[in-house]
Amino acid sequence: MDLKFLFSTLLITPFFLITFHSNAETSTYIIHMNKSLFPQIFMTHNDWFKSTIHSLKSKTLLDDPDQHAQKKLLYTYDNAMYGFSALLTSNELETLKNIDGFVAAYQDRTATIDTTHTFEFLSLDSPNGLWHASNFGDDIVVGVIDSGVWPESQSFKDDGMTKKIPNKWKGTCQIGQEFNASMCNFKLIGARYFNKGVIASNPNVTISMNSARDNIGHGTHTSSTVAGNYVNGASYFGYAKGIARGIAPKAKIAMYKVIWQEGRFASDVLAGMDQAIIDGVDVISISMGFDDTPLFEDPIAIASFAAMEKGIVVSSSAGNAGPQLGTLHNGIPWLITAAAGTIDRTFGTLVLGNGQNIIGWTLFPANAIVENLPLVYNNTVSSCNSVELLSQLNKQVIILCDESMSNSNTNSVFEQIRVVAATSMFGAVFISDNPGLIDTRLLYSPSIVIKPKDAEYVINYAKSIKNPTASIKFQQTFVGTKPAPAAAHYSSRGPSHYFPWILKPDIMAPGSRVLAAYIPTRPSARIGTNVYLSSDYTFMSGTSMSCPHVSGVVALLKSAHPQWSVAAIRSSLITTASPLDNTQNPIRDNGYPSQYASPLAIGAGEIDPNRAMNPGLIYDATPQDYVNFLCGLKFTKNQILTITRSNSYDCENPSLDLNYPSFIALYSNKTRSMVHKFKRTVTNVGDGSATYRAKLTYPKGSVVKVSPDILNFSYINEKRSYYINIKYVMYKNENVSFGDLVWIEDGGTHTVRSPIVIAPSGII
Ligand SMILES: *[C@@H]1O[C@H](CO)[C@@H](O)[C@H](O)[C@H]1NC(C)=O
Ligand SMILES: *[C@@H]1O[C@H](CO)[C@@H](O)[C@H](O)[C@H]1NC(C)=O
Ligand SMILES: *[C@@H]1O[C@H](CO)[C@@H](O)[C@H](O)[C@H]1NC(C)=O
Ligand SMILES: *[C@@H]1O[C@H](CO)[C@@H](O)[C@H](O)[C@H]1NC(C)=O
Ligand SMILES: *[C@@H]1O[C@H](CO)[C@@H](O)[C@H](O)[C@H]1NC(C)=O
Ligand SMILES: *[C@@H]1O[C@H](CO)[C@@H](O)[C@H](O)[C@H]1NC(C)=O
Ligand SMILES: *[C@@H]1O[C@H](CO)[C@@H](O)[C@H](O)[C@H]1NC(C)=O
Repeated sequence: MDLKFLFSTLLITPFFLITFHSNAETSTYIIHMNKSLFPQIFMTHNDWFKSTIHSLKSKTLLDDPDQHAQKKLLYTYDNAMYGFSALLTSNELETLKNIDGFVAAYQDRTATIDTTHTFEFLSLDSPNGLWHASNFGDDIVVGVIDSGVWPESQSFKDDGMTKKIPNKWKGTCQIGQEFNASMCNFKLIGARYFNKGVIASNPNVTISMNSARDNIGHGTHTSSTVAGNYVNGASYFGYAKGIARGIAPKAKIAMYKVIWQEGRFASDVLAGMDQAIIDGVDVISISMGFDDTPLFEDPIAIASFAAMEKGIVVSSSAGNAGPQLGTLHNGIPWLITAAAGTIDRTFGTLVLGNGQNIIGWTLFPANAIVENLPLVYNNTVSSCNSVELLSQLNKQVIILCDESMSNSNTNSVFEQIRVVAATSMFGAVFISDNPGLIDTRLLYSPSIVIKPKDAEYVINYAKSIKNPTASIKFQQTFVGTKPAPAAAHYSSRGPSHYFPWILKPDIMAPGSRVLAAYIPTRPSARIGTNVYLSSDYTFMSGTSMSCPHVSGVVALLKSAHPQWSVAAIRSSLITTASPLDNTQNPIRDNGYPSQYASPLAIGAGEIDPNRAMNPGLIYDATPQDYVNFLCGLKFTKNQILTITRSNSYDCENPSLDLNYPSFIALYSNKTRSMVHKFKRTVTNVGDGSATYRAKLTYPKGSVVKVSPDILNFSYINEKRSYYINIKYVMYKNENVSFGDLVWIEDGGTHTVRSPIVIAPSGII
């Protein structure tokens, strides 16, 4: 299920009908302050901020001013950013702007939310692979910023875990509603919750689960995907049965609940990330983003800069707003942005009376007996859009519905499913090229979805035989289906609207129909219109699901290479990712079924954890390098300070060459004749001396030159630089075109690949 759907269902709960701004005059603001101007007369930052709020002297103030300031102050931030969040009127805000130390302020904003098998698909189980090199992520702590956790889930048991909490760990298991300290263990080592922003936005709100306990399901799913323990016999009503486990099964989990049924606010997200940094996590997994937000007001950009300085890798989701270009969030240069792909797994078979088996897709949550029934294909009724017409049919048949050509709600495959369920037909066959769109809770009558290319045969059979019959087999799982992976249609595409100068997303990971732990208090399946079923494991789809796969791999890489920087880890993932699917053809784009996926959909391609362990060369970058890039882009002093929090960075070497392992050249009518020139520096992390030769594939309509095109290394950690020139020549349709630069080691095993994209700037 696409998470957009999940949250659109949440949107109809009454909480969201309440207007958030109870007092029209006050709003929550996030305020950045200049730490260098901290007045020494104050003991703590908190004292300074309280006194600052106090000095704004609201005229209507009746109660004790100090208490009043305390009430208005939501959070003090000192790690993710420097400053505070507070409830202020617009007049107070104006006054605040003139106070010494003020840097920037903006209103609180709302975040967008975006196994048994995926580890095999990623080949993690190979004997010389990353699992073994990293001891399954032992001793790494992953902080998950999400909707909480269901601590009783089998996935969070600590059997087989090292019975030791890392020394540096400062986190805690915060007591709250239906949550106490005994619920943490050597797997779930921390759990905290942050909802002052939600409450500030609506003081009358009733928080439905006032603790780190998950009552949405999202956080339980993502955290068990990152680092869930081994669970025998996990399945979703018999589908995808096997041993469930996270990508880093021995890593430890700390949950920071910032997503609430009652709202999800930047001020709470910042507080969660601030605390995760203090607590000492190694990796932050954050399956959400802020749409339409410039970098210097984006809490994830701000907090992840602080994390990056400390070597904490932040892995985030690209969003579920695809397939249109320019829809991506989290296009932030110092974190990892994950796109979502399909996996090679499907469920269920349609068996025709002539013995032909057609593997399709169904997750109907029971072993319904739909055997040897007449297969009805009737021009009058097969559009399946009229309950009235279908009701005239004998119900003891399998109705074959035509492919619905429209994506509009009134004539979509969803509408067909609804119509067929309302008529209680014994069985139904739907045709769709995009079964990923249809997810668990939606297929609630005994039915199966098949692909249009298989449908031709089925329709032919139904038309040409006198008494066509069919059966549908449920609770079957098939792996190895081809081609896989493909870019999921829903995965948001780059470039980033607010920050198009870096190619995003970075990489793709499994995101469609991922099985992971779930909460027992929300239905995860439905039979007919009234019967809802719960399951401890469920399928979810979205970049929210691909992000924790990447976070898990990052945890393994951090364990295998504790000395690597954030940039080095990201570089190793990008340069070793695969642009090919399991048929050895370029990865396809499910959003545009006739196309290959461009790097704006999949980044460098599907992550390949085992290769990422040993990338040969890396593109490293220091915090100052990112600042130089922002300076090169002419960000103002204040904008830069909101991100960096400290004056220890300078703008003395502005540069447009961020040492990123991919290339994007944007051209407009004005700049199309320009040559885009990039400089890059690679560090040899291979086995010693090595020679690499460049191999270029030009994006259509361009000429690319690299110099030098041979890089010789004589020792480990030696650095070499090269230049690459990209010249747009002509591409009639102004389309996105793409190619790559691959450094191939002479006689060695390493190939280091960087995607190259040329795109008209009009697409942003
Ligand atoms: C909140 O509750 C108070 C007291 O019951 C009431 O006066 C006020 O109108 C409520 N505000 C909103 C936004 O519902
Ligand atoms: C924690 O909660 C569980 C389940 O409600 C209960 O059995 C246990 O006694 C509680 N432990 C503490 C220390 O309060
Ligand atoms: C198709 O279905 C309609 C409506 O039930 C029925 O009137 C018609 O006879 C059917 N046609 C065939 C060929 O079965
Ligand atoms: C912050 O304060 C320091 C010390 O006064 C000053 O040098 C610096 O320019 C200030 N930064 C900004 C962005 O105002
Ligand atoms: C760019 O130039 C081409 C050819 O001169 C012209 O046809 C096109 O309309 C221009 N596009 C824009 C966006 O100005
Ligand atoms: C690089 O190494 C190759 C093979 O060892 C050698 O032939 C070549 O001369 C070297 N080039 C440079 C510039 O050092
Ligand atoms: C290529 O560009 C043309 C003109 O802008 C557009 O209509 C078409 O959809 C694009 N094709 C692809 C594959 O993006």
